[in-house]
Amino acid sequence: MSQPSSATLEKITALCKRRGFVYQSSEIYGGLNGVYDFGPLGSLMKQNIRSAWSQAMMKANDAIVFMDGSILGSYDTWKASGHIDNFSDPMVDCLNCKKRYRTDEIDLERACPHCGKKAWTEARMFNMMFQTQMGPLADPTAMAYLRPETAQAIFINFKNVISTSRVKIPFGIAQIGKAFRNEITPKQFLFRMREFEQMEMEWFCKDAQAMEYFKFWADARKAFYQTIGLDPARIRLREHAPDERAHYSTACIDVEYQFPFGWKEIEGIAHRGTFDLTQHSKHSGKDLNVFDEETKSSYTPTVIECSVGVDRLFLTLLFDAYHEDIIEGEERVVLRLNPRIAPIKAAFMPLTKKQVDPLYQIYARIRAAGFMVQFDESGSIGKRYRRQDEIGTPFCFTYDFESEKDNTVTVRHRDSTKQERINIDDIQQFLEKITHE
Ligand code: GAP
Repeated sequence: MSQPSSATLEKITALCKRRGFVYQSSEIYGGLNGVYDFGPLGSLMKQNIRSAWSQAMMKANDAIVFMDGSILGSYDTWKASGHIDNFSDPMVDCLNCKKRYRTDEIDLERACPHCGKKAWTEARMFNMMFQTQMGPLADPTAMAYLRPETAQAIFINFKNVISTSRVKIPFGIAQIGKAFRNEITPKQFLFRMREFEQMEMEWFCKDAQAMEYFKFWADARKAFYQTIGLDPARIRLREHAPDERAHYSTACIDVEYQFPFGWKEIEGIAHRGTFDLTQHSKHSGKDLNVFDEETKSSYTPTVIECSVGVDRLFLTLLFDAYHEDIIEGEERVVLRLNPRIAPIKAAFMPLTKKQVDPLYQIYARIRAAGFMVQFDESGSIGKRYRRQDEIGTPFCFTYDFESEKDNTVTVRHRDSTKQERINIDDIQQFLEKITHE
């Protein structure tokens, strides 16, 4: 059984602001709704999430290559993908207070929860793509779009990748990058944003093997979440009912996490069939088929997609790691983040002024070896521990009177608060072992 979590959205949001993980974007001008900036700790943690995902992709199969597509896309790309015509949510406005809702989030039989009046507009479809104009002319042909998903860059470069790298079916193309959706109601902090980041991998295979790969990826992706420390009791796979799936999709499984606000999707694994390559082939007039040496015929590969949001996973990791407990009679907030994900791997804390120099030298050596560590010398030792616990630093090293004599330091473990002595020459190896998978 997993521990009951004491995390709430309010507590997580406040911690993120207080400790420099996440700020509301354009805060000094009143804020931009659904858009966030990541501060010093948040940007480090995001890098660790991206790196854990890329590592998992590299290890899962050596036939995975990476790419980095553009954010701006042409009208033709998004027409072919179906987003111009179908990437819409139904919405209504309150005629009294002008507040806008997605129709699936509101009971239209009742009054507006914001102003208490019941005066709804007709429901209408709202396309969620951000449009912009390329070049100086306000001409309809100059219309461009900020991508609402990273996946299409992979599909439109499918032939480029095949002809320029030594990949053969089955293989995957993985990508991390920003995506933009003009969500009608951005909500739950990083859960539904207007500007966010996705980590997507499109796996191209023969149709006969697609279901096997679909199951393989669903299991592999679920297992990934345990390797980065999420509580297995709070993760589940949920298969979509046929009426939840896109018309071209044969099967879809969500990896869900149990948030305080319910079980919610963190990643989608989708059997997309041949839809995307067929659409782009039709609209561009380019042949996106591959040649099968065995049957001596051409075919369109089937695609299995794994798609997760960096920011949504960031929020999930914070929910999972957030704990409040009592240490030596004092309450503390502790982020029990996996050491690979934690923004700061260790803090070095001198106990007296005399110890500053020798400990600083050890700290500097570890930092120069590539570990994101901090030197923390201000405040009482208890305060310093609480400060590091709250940002999820897994280890704190202290140098004391013994250190000079036996070349050891004390290492304190964040979760158990247990302390042990370790040789100064072994610190780097200790951190390597614990922070690298
Ligand atoms: N290419 C498939 C695709 O984009 P999706 O279910 O719309 O599928 C995939 O998005 C993942 O991207 C979601 O599981 C979620 O983690 C993340 N995501 C989607 N919309 C988001 C938003 N508005 N804010 C934050 N993350 C979002």
